[in-house]
Amino acid sequence: MPPDLGLNDPLLLNQWFALAWTSSLPENKLQPVRVLGRDLVLWRTSDAVHAWKDLCVHRGAKLSLGRICRREGGECIICPYHGWEYNFAGECVRIPAHPDQAPPSRAHVDRFVVQEKYGLVWVCLGKPVGDIPSFPEASMPGFRLIPTGPYEFHAQGPRIIENILDLAHLPIAHAGLLGDPANAEIGEYTVTTTAEGIVARDIPLWQPDPDGTGRSAKVHYTFWVERPFTTRLTKNHPTQHFSILVAVTPVDAENSVAWVLIAMDYAHDVPEEELRQFQDKVTAQDIRIVNSQRPELLPLDLQSELHLRSDQIAIAYRRWLKHLGLQYGIS
Ligand code: FES
Ligand SMILES: [Fe+2]
Repeated sequence: MPPDLGLNDPLLLNQWFALAWTSSLPENKLQPVRVLGRDLVLWRTSDAVHAWKDLCVHRGAKLSLGRICRREGGECIICPYHGWEYNFAGECVRIPAHPDQAPPSRAHVDRFVVQEKYGLVWVCLGKPVGDIPSFPEASMPGFRLIPTGPYEFHAQGPRIIENILDLAHLPIAHAGLLGDPANAEIGEYTVTTTAEGIVARDIPLWQPDPDGTGRSAKVHYTFWVERPFTTRLTKNHPTQHFSILVAVTPVDAENSVAWVLIAMDYAHDVPEEELRQFQDKVTAQDIRIVNSQRPELLPLDLQSELHLRSDQIAIAYRRWLKHLGLQYGIS
Protein backbone atom coordinates (compact mmCIF):
# COMPACT_ATOMS: atom_id res chain seq x y z
CA MET A 1 0.00 0.00 0.00
CA PRO A 2 1.30 3.50 -0.78
CA PRO A 3 2.43 5.73 2.11
CA ASP A 4 -0.95 7.49 2.27
CA LEU A 5 -2.41 4.14 3.43
CA GLY A 6 -4.83 4.20 0.53
CA LEU A 7 -6.71 7.24 1.86
CA ASN A 8 -6.15 8.98 -1.49
CA ASP A 9 -7.19 5.99 -3.56
CA PRO A 10 -8.82 7.61 -6.64
CA LEU A 11 -11.23 4.69 -6.93
CA LEU A 12 -12.64 5.46 -3.47
CA LEU A 13 -12.48 9.24 -3.74
CA ASN A 14 -14.98 8.94 -6.59
CA GLN A 15 -17.40 6.59 -4.79
CA TRP A 16 -20.54 7.49 -2.84
CA PHE A 17 -20.31 6.72 0.87
CA ALA A 18 -23.11 6.80 3.43
CA LEU A 19 -22.30 9.18 6.28
CA ALA A 20 -25.47 9.66 8.31
CA TRP A 21 -29.12 8.75 8.62
CA THR A 22 -31.31 11.44 7.10
CA SER A 23 -33.35 11.34 10.33
CA SER A 24 -30.27 12.26 12.40
CA LEU A 25 -29.76 15.51 10.53
CA PRO A 26 -32.43 18.08 11.36
CA GLU A 27 -32.07 21.72 10.41
CA ASN A 28 -29.95 23.72 12.83
CA LYS A 29 -27.53 20.88 13.51
CA LEU A 30 -23.88 20.73 12.53
CA GLN A 31 -22.90 17.08 12.35
CA PRO A 32 -19.22 16.15 12.21
CA VAL A 33 -18.48 12.99 10.19
CA ARG A 34 -15.34 11.30 8.95
CA VAL A 35 -14.55 9.50 5.71
CA LEU A 36 -11.20 8.37 4.30
CA GLY A 37 -9.42 10.24 7.08
CA ARG A 38 -11.13 13.54 6.20
CA ASP A 39 -13.28 15.51 8.63
CA LEU A 40 -16.52 16.78 7.12
CA VAL A 41 -19.45 18.67 8.53
CA LEU A 42 -22.98 17.89 7.37
CA TRP A 43 -25.79 20.38 7.74
CA ARG A 44 -29.22 20.99 6.35
CA THR A 45 -30.94 24.11 5.08
CA SER A 46 -34.62 24.25 4.18
CA ASP A 47 -34.07 22.86 0.69
CA ALA A 48 -30.77 20.96 0.73
CA VAL A 49 -28.17 19.00 2.67
CA HIS A 50 -24.60 20.27 2.59
CA ALA A 51 -21.32 18.39 3.05
CA TRP A 52 -18.34 20.65 3.71
CA LYS A 53 -14.77 20.21 4.77
CA ASP A 54 -14.89 20.69 8.54
CA LEU A 55 -12.27 23.39 8.56
CA CYS A 56 -12.27 27.15 8.65
CA VAL A 57 -9.64 28.51 6.27
CA HIS A 58 -8.67 31.30 8.69
CA ARG A 59 -6.96 29.27 11.44
CA GLY A 60 -8.22 25.76 10.84
CA ALA A 61 -10.87 25.55 13.55
CA LYS A 62 -13.61 22.97 13.13
CA LEU A 63 -16.74 24.57 11.71
CA SER A 64 -18.84 21.81 13.30
CA LEU A 65 -18.12 23.48 16.66
CA GLY A 66 -19.74 26.66 15.41
CA ARG A 67 -23.38 27.41 14.79
CA ILE A 68 -25.92 27.99 12.07
CA CYS A 69 -27.35 31.45 11.77
CA ARG A 70 -30.27 32.64 9.66
CA ARG A 71 -29.43 35.74 7.61
CA GLU A 72 -31.19 37.64 4.92
CA GLY A 73 -30.45 35.59 1.80
CA GLY A 74 -30.14 32.27 3.58
CA GLU A 75 -28.43 30.35 6.35
CA CYS A 76 -24.77 30.79 7.30
CA ILE A 77 -22.30 28.82 9.39
CA ILE A 78 -20.42 30.91 11.91
CA CYS A 79 -16.95 29.72 12.87
CA PRO A 80 -16.56 29.26 16.65
CA TYR A 81 -13.11 30.92 16.76
CA HIS A 82 -13.26 34.41 15.22
CA GLY A 83 -16.81 34.33 13.91
CA TRP A 84 -16.20 34.30 10.19
CA GLU A 85 -19.52 33.71 8.46
CA TYR A 86 -19.85 31.35 5.52
CA ASN A 87 -23.01 31.41 3.41
CA PHE A 88 -24.63 28.17 2.18
CA ALA A 89 -22.46 28.33 -0.96
CA GLY A 90 -19.39 28.11 1.30
CA GLU A 91 -18.22 31.69 0.69
CA CYS A 92 -17.06 33.81 3.59
CA VAL A 93 -19.39 36.81 3.67
CA ARG A 94 -18.47 38.49 6.96
CA ILE A 95 -15.41 38.87 9.17
CA PRO A 96 -16.37 40.43 12.54
CA ALA A 97 -12.87 41.88 13.15
CA HIS A 98 -13.12 43.81 9.86
CA PRO A 99 -16.82 44.35 9.26
CA ASP A 100 -16.28 46.89 6.51
CA GLN A 101 -13.73 44.87 4.56
CA ALA A 102 -14.76 42.45 1.83
CA PRO A 103 -13.55 38.94 2.79
CA PRO A 104 -10.62 37.70 0.68
CA SER A 105 -11.69 35.72 -2.39
CA ARG A 106 -9.83 32.66 -1.11
CA ALA A 107 -11.97 32.62 2.01
CA HIS A 108 -14.30 29.77 1.16
CA VAL A 109 -14.92 26.25 2.33
CA ASP A 110 -14.42 23.11 0.23
CA ARG A 111 -17.75 21.49 -0.53
CA PHE A 112 -18.64 17.99 -1.65
CA VAL A 113 -21.52 16.49 -3.62
CA VAL A 114 -24.23 15.08 -1.42
CA GLN A 115 -27.50 13.20 -1.94
CA GLU A 116 -30.13 11.61 0.22
CA LYS A 117 -31.43 8.15 -0.66
CA TYR A 118 -32.89 5.20 1.29
CA GLY A 119 -32.92 7.39 4.41
CA LEU A 120 -29.16 7.91 4.24
CA VAL A 121 -26.99 10.92 3.46
CA TRP A 122 -24.43 9.96 0.79
CA VAL A 123 -21.32 11.98 -0.02
CA CYS A 124 -18.66 11.69 -2.70
CA LEU A 125 -15.31 13.39 -2.09
CA GLY A 126 -14.42 13.56 -5.78
CA LYS A 127 -16.40 13.16 -8.99
CA PRO A 128 -18.96 10.37 -8.64
CA VAL A 129 -18.31 7.55 -11.12
CA GLY A 130 -21.88 6.31 -10.90
CA ASP A 131 -25.12 6.56 -9.00
CA ILE A 132 -25.66 5.75 -5.39
CA PRO A 133 -25.60 1.95 -5.03
CA SER A 134 -28.84 0.37 -6.18
CA PHE A 135 -31.29 -1.25 -3.79
CA PRO A 136 -34.39 -2.00 -5.88
CA GLU A 137 -36.43 -3.44 -2.99
CA ALA A 138 -36.37 -0.05 -1.26
CA SER A 139 -39.02 1.18 -3.68
CA MET A 140 -40.87 -2.06 -4.39
CA PRO A 141 -44.48 -2.27 -3.23
CA GLY A 142 -45.01 -4.59 -0.27
CA PHE A 143 -41.52 -4.15 1.17
CA ARG A 144 -40.70 -2.27 4.33
CA LEU A 145 -37.30 -0.78 4.94
CA ILE A 146 -35.53 -1.24 8.27
CA PRO A 147 -32.39 0.79 8.94
CA THR A 148 -29.79 -0.94 11.14
CA GLY A 149 -26.35 0.04 12.33
CA PRO A 150 -24.13 1.83 11.68
CA TYR A 151 -21.84 -0.96 12.87
CA GLU A 152 -18.27 -0.04 13.77
CA PHE A 153 -15.47 -2.31 12.62
CA HIS A 154 -11.78 -2.07 13.37
CA ALA A 155 -11.20 -3.37 9.85
CA GLN A 156 -11.24 -2.23 6.26
CA GLY A 157 -13.92 -2.51 3.59
CA PRO A 158 -12.50 -5.49 1.69
CA ARG A 159 -12.50 -7.85 4.71
CA ILE A 160 -15.96 -6.61 5.76
CA ILE A 161 -17.54 -7.07 2.33
CA GLU A 162 -15.94 -10.46 1.92
CA ASN A 163 -17.50 -11.48 5.23
CA ILE A 164 -20.97 -10.66 3.86
CA LEU A 165 -20.26 -12.64 0.69
CA ASP A 166 -19.10 -15.66 2.69
CA LEU A 167 -21.81 -18.32 2.83
CA ALA A 168 -19.81 -21.04 4.54
CA HIS A 169 -19.55 -19.04 7.75
CA LEU A 170 -23.32 -18.77 8.24
CA PRO A 171 -23.90 -22.24 9.75
CA ILE A 172 -20.80 -21.93 11.95
CA ALA A 173 -20.27 -18.32 13.06
CA HIS A 174 -24.06 -17.75 13.18
CA ALA A 175 -25.05 -21.26 14.30
CA GLY A 176 -28.69 -21.38 15.31
CA LEU A 177 -29.41 -17.99 13.77
CA LEU A 178 -28.50 -18.20 10.09
CA GLY A 179 -27.47 -21.83 9.72
CA ASP A 180 -27.14 -25.26 11.23
CA PRO A 181 -23.65 -26.71 11.82
CA ALA A 182 -25.06 -30.18 11.08
CA ASN A 183 -26.24 -28.94 7.66
CA ALA A 184 -23.30 -26.75 6.72
CA GLU A 185 -22.56 -28.09 3.25
CA ILE A 186 -22.49 -25.48 0.51
CA GLY A 187 -23.72 -26.78 -2.85
CA GLU A 188 -22.57 -25.89 -6.33
CA TYR A 189 -23.09 -22.35 -7.51
CA THR A 190 -21.79 -20.09 -10.22
CA VAL A 191 -20.42 -16.59 -10.03
CA THR A 192 -20.51 -14.18 -12.92
CA THR A 193 -18.39 -11.06 -13.24
CA THR A 194 -19.70 -8.46 -15.66
CA ALA A 195 -18.99 -4.82 -16.43
CA GLU A 196 -21.34 -3.95 -13.52
CA GLY A 197 -19.64 -6.20 -10.99
CA ILE A 198 -20.25 -9.63 -9.52
CA VAL A 199 -23.40 -11.69 -9.21
CA ALA A 200 -23.83 -15.13 -7.65
CA ARG A 201 -27.38 -16.47 -7.97
CA ASP A 202 -29.63 -18.87 -6.12
CA ILE A 203 -27.18 -20.45 -3.74
CA PRO A 204 -29.06 -22.97 -1.60
CA LEU A 205 -28.56 -23.10 2.17
CA TRP A 206 -30.39 -24.87 4.96
CA GLN A 207 -31.51 -22.52 7.76
CA PRO A 208 -33.04 -23.33 11.14
CA ASP A 209 -35.60 -20.51 11.10
CA PRO A 210 -35.33 -18.38 7.96
CA ASP A 211 -38.60 -16.46 8.37
CA GLY A 212 -39.12 -16.31 12.13
CA THR A 213 -41.87 -18.97 12.20
CA GLY A 214 -39.59 -21.52 13.89
CA ARG A 215 -39.60 -23.88 10.87
CA SER A 216 -36.34 -24.87 9.19
CA ALA A 217 -36.20 -24.59 5.40
CA LYS A 218 -33.91 -24.35 2.44
CA VAL A 219 -33.41 -20.78 1.28
CA HIS A 220 -31.64 -19.38 -1.77
CA TYR A 221 -29.20 -16.51 -1.58
CA THR A 222 -28.25 -14.18 -4.41
CA PHE A 223 -25.41 -11.67 -4.03
CA TRP A 224 -24.51 -8.62 -6.07
CA VAL A 225 -21.36 -6.54 -5.73
CA GLU A 226 -21.51 -3.43 -7.90
CA ARG A 227 -19.29 -1.12 -5.87
CA PRO A 228 -16.02 -1.98 -4.12
CA PHE A 229 -17.44 -1.54 -0.61
CA THR A 230 -21.15 -2.17 -1.11
CA THR A 231 -23.04 -5.39 -1.53
CA ARG A 232 -26.65 -6.42 -1.54
CA LEU A 233 -28.17 -9.81 -1.16
CA THR A 234 -31.57 -11.40 -1.38
CA LYS A 235 -32.71 -14.44 0.51
CA ASN A 236 -35.79 -16.02 -0.99
CA HIS A 237 -37.90 -18.86 0.08
CA PRO A 238 -41.10 -19.73 -1.70
CA THR A 239 -43.25 -16.68 -1.06
CA GLN A 240 -41.06 -14.46 1.08
CA HIS A 241 -38.28 -12.09 0.13
CA PHE A 242 -35.63 -10.63 2.35
CA SER A 243 -32.94 -8.24 1.09
CA ILE A 244 -30.02 -6.44 2.63
CA LEU A 245 -27.88 -3.60 1.40
CA VAL A 246 -24.55 -3.28 3.20
CA ALA A 247 -22.68 -0.05 2.51
CA VAL A 248 -19.27 0.18 4.16
CA THR A 249 -17.78 3.61 4.74
CA PRO A 250 -14.01 3.80 5.25
CA VAL A 251 -13.59 6.13 8.23
CA ASP A 252 -9.78 6.16 8.17
CA ALA A 253 -6.94 3.77 7.38
CA GLU A 254 -8.04 1.25 10.02
CA ASN A 255 -11.70 1.79 10.85
CA SER A 256 -14.98 1.46 9.00
CA VAL A 257 -18.68 1.69 9.61
CA ALA A 258 -21.27 -0.51 7.93
CA TRP A 259 -24.71 0.93 7.20
CA VAL A 260 -27.16 -1.92 6.79
CA LEU A 261 -30.62 -1.59 5.26
CA ILE A 262 -33.03 -4.49 5.43
CA ALA A 263 -36.04 -4.77 3.10
CA MET A 264 -38.63 -7.52 3.57
CA ASP A 265 -42.09 -8.26 2.21
CA TYR A 266 -43.41 -10.33 5.14
CA ALA A 267 -43.68 -10.23 8.96
CA HIS A 268 -44.96 -6.68 8.87
CA ASP A 269 -46.32 -7.20 12.37
CA VAL A 270 -42.87 -7.81 13.86
CA PRO A 271 -41.69 -4.59 15.55
CA GLU A 272 -38.77 -2.87 13.86
CA GLU A 273 -36.82 -2.93 17.13
CA GLU A 274 -36.97 -6.73 17.24
CA LEU A 275 -35.60 -7.01 13.70
CA ARG A 276 -32.89 -4.53 14.51
CA GLN A 277 -31.86 -6.48 17.60
CA PHE A 278 -31.53 -9.64 15.51
CA GLN A 279 -29.28 -7.82 13.04
CA ASP A 280 -27.25 -6.33 15.92
CA LYS A 281 -26.68 -9.83 17.31
CA VAL A 282 -25.62 -11.29 13.96
CA THR A 283 -23.33 -8.35 13.20
CA ALA A 284 -21.70 -8.52 16.64
CA GLN A 285 -20.74 -12.11 15.81
CA ASP A 286 -19.20 -10.91 12.54
CA ILE A 287 -17.38 -7.92 14.03
CA ARG A 288 -15.60 -10.12 16.56
CA ILE A 289 -14.24 -12.33 13.80
CA VAL A 290 -13.53 -9.73 11.11
CA ASN A 291 -11.64 -7.53 13.59
CA SER A 292 -9.47 -10.56 14.38
CA GLN A 293 -8.49 -11.39 10.79
CA ARG A 294 -4.82 -11.13 9.87
CA PRO A 295 -3.46 -9.77 7.74
CA GLU A 296 -5.90 -6.89 8.09
CA LEU A 297 -5.31 -6.00 4.45
CA LEU A 298 -7.09 -8.39 2.10
CA PRO A 299 -4.49 -10.29 0.06
CA LEU A 300 -5.45 -10.05 -3.61
CA ASP A 301 -2.80 -12.58 -4.58
CA LEU A 302 -4.79 -15.82 -4.75
CA GLN A 303 -1.72 -17.77 -3.68
CA SER A 304 -2.24 -16.24 -0.23
CA GLU A 305 -4.75 -17.91 2.08
CA LEU A 306 -6.63 -21.03 0.97
CA HIS A 307 -9.58 -21.02 -1.37
CA LEU A 308 -12.21 -23.71 -1.72
CA ARG A 309 -15.15 -24.21 -4.04
CA SER A 310 -17.42 -22.54 -1.47
CA ASP A 311 -15.19 -19.43 -1.57
CA GLN A 312 -15.90 -18.71 -5.24
CA ILE A 313 -17.54 -15.36 -4.55
CA ALA A 314 -14.56 -14.26 -2.49
CA ILE A 315 -12.21 -15.31 -5.28
CA ALA A 316 -14.27 -13.33 -7.81
CA TYR A 317 -14.33 -10.33 -5.43
CA ARG A 318 -10.54 -10.37 -4.98
CA ARG A 319 -10.03 -10.65 -8.75
CA TRP A 320 -12.47 -7.82 -9.36
CA LEU A 321 -10.81 -5.52 -6.81
CA LYS A 322 -7.51 -6.20 -8.50
CA HIS A 323 -9.03 -5.39 -11.88
CA LEU A 324 -10.44 -2.12 -10.50
CA GLY A 325 -7.03 -1.18 -9.15
CA LEU A 326 -8.16 -0.70 -5.53
CA GLN A 327 -5.32 0.56 -3.34
CA TYR A 328 -6.99 0.82 0.09
CA GLY A 329 -7.47 -2.13 2.46
CA ILE A 330 -5.70 -4.66 0.26
CA SER A 331 -2.22 -6.09 -0.06
S1 FES B 1 -10.46 30.04 12.65
FE1 FES B 1 -12.42 30.38 11.89
S2 FES B 1 -12.70 32.45 12.10
FE2 FES B 1 -10.68 32.18 12.73
FE1 LIG C 1 -21.85 -13.06 9.11
